Amino acid sequence: MISYCNKLILAPMVRGSRLPTRLLALRYGADLVYTDELIDLSLLMSKRRVNDILGTVDYVNEANGYCTFRTCPEEKDRLIFQMGTANPDRAVALAKLVQNDVSAIDVNMGCPKPYSTDFGMGAKLLLNADNAKRILTNLVKNIPLPITCKIRIFDNVEDSIKLAKEFESTGISAIAVHGRTKKQKSTEPVNKDAIRQIAENLKIPVIANGGSDDIETYDDIEKFRNDCGASSVMIARGVQKNVSIFRKEGLIPHEEVTRDYLKLCVDYDNSLANTKYVIGKMYKANTDKIQKKKFSREFEDAESMEQICRHWGLKDYCREVHGAYAAKGHVHLPCSPLTQLEDISTEIFEYRKHLYKDENIKFSLMKFIRRYFGLETLPKTLVYGYAGRNKLPPPVYETRREDRLYYTVITFNGQKYASLIWDREKRNAEQTAALVMCHHLGLFEEHFLTVIGCLLDHLSNDEIREHMQ
Ligand code: FNR
Repeated sequence: MISYCNKLILAPMVRGSRLPTRLLALRYGADLVYTDELIDLSLLMSKRRVNDILGTVDYVNEANGYCTFRTCPEEKDRLIFQMGTANPDRAVALAKLVQNDVSAIDVNMGCPKPYSTDFGMGAKLLLNADNAKRILTNLVKNIPLPITCKIRIFDNVEDSIKLAKEFESTGISAIAVHGRTKKQKSTEPVNKDAIRQIAENLKIPVIANGGSDDIETYDDIEKFRNDCGASSVMIARGVQKNVSIFRKEGLIPHEEVTRDYLKLCVDYDNSLANTKYVIGKMYKANTDKIQKKKFSREFEDAESMEQICRHWGLKDYCREVHGAYAAKGHVHLPCSPLTQLEDISTEIFEYRKHLYKDENIKFSLMKFIRRYFGLETLPKTLVYGYAGRNKLPPPVYETRREDRLYYTVITFNGQKYASLIWDREKRNAEQTAALVMCHHLGLFEEHFLTVIGCLLDHLSNDEIREHMQ
């Protein structure tokens, strides 16, 4: 059984805590690592597959072939699986599915983003303590592993203590506390005093989180732990800057860290989009303006792992390793043809696909972004023109609304089309559906589609989320 006392922990981060980052964190000195948040609905649609070639265990979504979760024996004894859930039965079903590949199970109760809270998950659970307790109790009762949860604080510290104590009473082994409220941005100071007061009132270990702005070196980690009176410390953004923050001996230059990271990405056949994302974050945090510009040009244009590896003198290494994998019959698990958006929230897309399941809809991961289109190339204009040229009735738009977001199903010539990306604005939702139809009918030039795909690919995580909300 893992212990939560005096531990340095890699925090769960969507896209930021995948296998290569986790392994690197452990090799540099982290004691425990969290997975990124993995959503019950999505993982429950996945099958466990042992990948003898990579030496990994892969959970692969049967419907789309995407790898939803990849792990390996090196991390098993130190790996905490974080789930996004709002349902006690699904939580247990998922924990049972993964329990032999991980060492503990955590429930995310801190995510403030609508794609989590809209479905009753994340920080929404803090406002629905009964359900949160049912989830934890069910997990503690049925799963022979330590169960934990990760929470945010309330404005009033007394309320936070009360809730944390209620959660403690379910039998969980530890609780991670991000010292900010659901509304607070990471730019606002972390409330160390609130974490301290929660820690003082609980018997189980408290993991302090939210201190990355104060943590520049290894010694700062211990200071943050002491300031919070906590048992352990969990770090997220500090790791994005430089994973070697976990090294007792001090930070390694990010050039070197990148090389170490990239080797792991090659070894574990990490997706190109995720590799770019992680390295991009590190570079943006560490380089000056001129370097950043140069970096962006060379790096973001890279279309293969080998091209990225070339920048760090690992081209031959990449070719050799991937060549050997291919010779043994390894097949890279695919990503969406147009964008890598599913990297940040496959789960939500799975949920949305599920909504369409009774209709014969062709869908895509596409999003209409006004500034990329001229008047004559607006998707609605194009589909209207196409109908006219082919003497067919114009498309019919049916726009639906769920949780403040619009999504349109477009029917044309007996076929329905929709996007899995929804929009705050009705008119954008219609254009998005038309875009999907254009895509399926091949109404855009091939190169134009590639441009859209690249533009979406190159948006930052925050920008993508902003567009999605
Ligand atoms: C996060 N955070 C987060 N939290 C969580 O419980 N599950 C998750 O999947 C994610 N995903 C995620 C992605 C990214 C890119 C960031 C930056 C953060 C929140 C994170 O774990 C942590 O609570 C906060 O970032 C505060 O800690 P730091 O950054 O001050 O160490």
